[in-house]
Amino acid sequence: MTAQRLDGLAIAQQIKSEVAREVAALAERGIRPGLAAILVGMNPASRVYVNSKVKTCEELGIYSEKHELPETTTTEALLHLIARLNAREEIDGILVQLPLPRHIDTSRVLDAVDPAKDVDGFHPVNVGRLVRNQEALEPCTPAGIIELLERTRIPIEGQRAVVIGRSDIVGKPLALMLLHRHATVTICHSRTPQLAEIARQADILVAAIGRTAMITAEYVKPGAVVIDVGINKVTDRAEVERLFGPDEKRLSELASKGYTLVGDVHPTSVAPIAGYLTPVPGGVGPLTIAMLMKNTVKAARWRRAAVRSATA
Ligand code: GUN
Repeated sequence: MTAQRLDGLAIAQQIKSEVAREVAALAERGIRPGLAAILVGMNPASRVYVNSKVKTCEELGIYSEKHELPETTTTEALLHLIARLNAREEIDGILVQLPLPRHIDTSRVLDAVDPAKDVDGFHPVNVGRLVRNQEALEPCTPAGIIELLERTRIPIEGQRAVVIGRSDIVGKPLALMLLHRHATVTICHSRTPQLAEIARQADILVAAIGRTAMITAEYVKPGAVVIDVGINKVTDRAEVERLFGPDEKRLSELASKGYTLVGDVHPTSVAPIAGYLTPVPGGVGPLTIAMLMKNTVKAARWRRAAVRSATA
């Protein structure tokens, strides 16, 4: 037995086609959803993510603009840009790529985004609405994981879910989303004693800790659904061989790019035990961007309907 692969790429494609159809329907009403992405500094991974988000907007007919600011940008300057974007009618979504440089006050920046344009779901108003199980703009990665489970018809209600990781971006919001769908949820983290023992109770196990291949077979109940949120670069050939065995594709990728992407789950250790497993890459990653597109269209529909009824 080996785990069934959960194809995030295919489901992301499905979601993106649905979004493209919605964009076309909005165009008939003279509305073009618009996204502004803000990138501060030189973090290479952030640059790749933002470019990928902007490119996906283009594919789906969503207007987008990229604001690239130097590492030395001040909190005040960023707040000023956000105020301008908040005021622009044609901008429906504002995304501030994280992490921001250390001298910037991230909370003040995220709090400045108009909650109606907060397509990342990071503003306290949207966090609060999520906590209360009210309609909200929800963080993209956990929302994508829920779509993956629901579209694969993996039951959530009554299941025991263990989320390893307590970040504001993934762990906390995902735990709430699973809870609202009637899972019994445990949140674990780096200081949880007997982590493997708790993880082994999970019907749905989510690894969002940012530690390469940490989750091995001893963390997994046979047949469990394992969702790997980690994206870690491995550059060492011996480590790639330890993780994947004599995997020609991985080794040639390492040779050509200088790295291969590995999740928080040890793939060859867990695959024989789990019932379902998301691959890295091609699992959760593509869903995050698809959900950002979905949120942008949702924000456009909500806000522009509200603007119209207010001015009618
Ligand atoms: N950094 C890592 N994940 C995310 C995300 O979902 N949104 C933003 N804005 N930054 C991130």
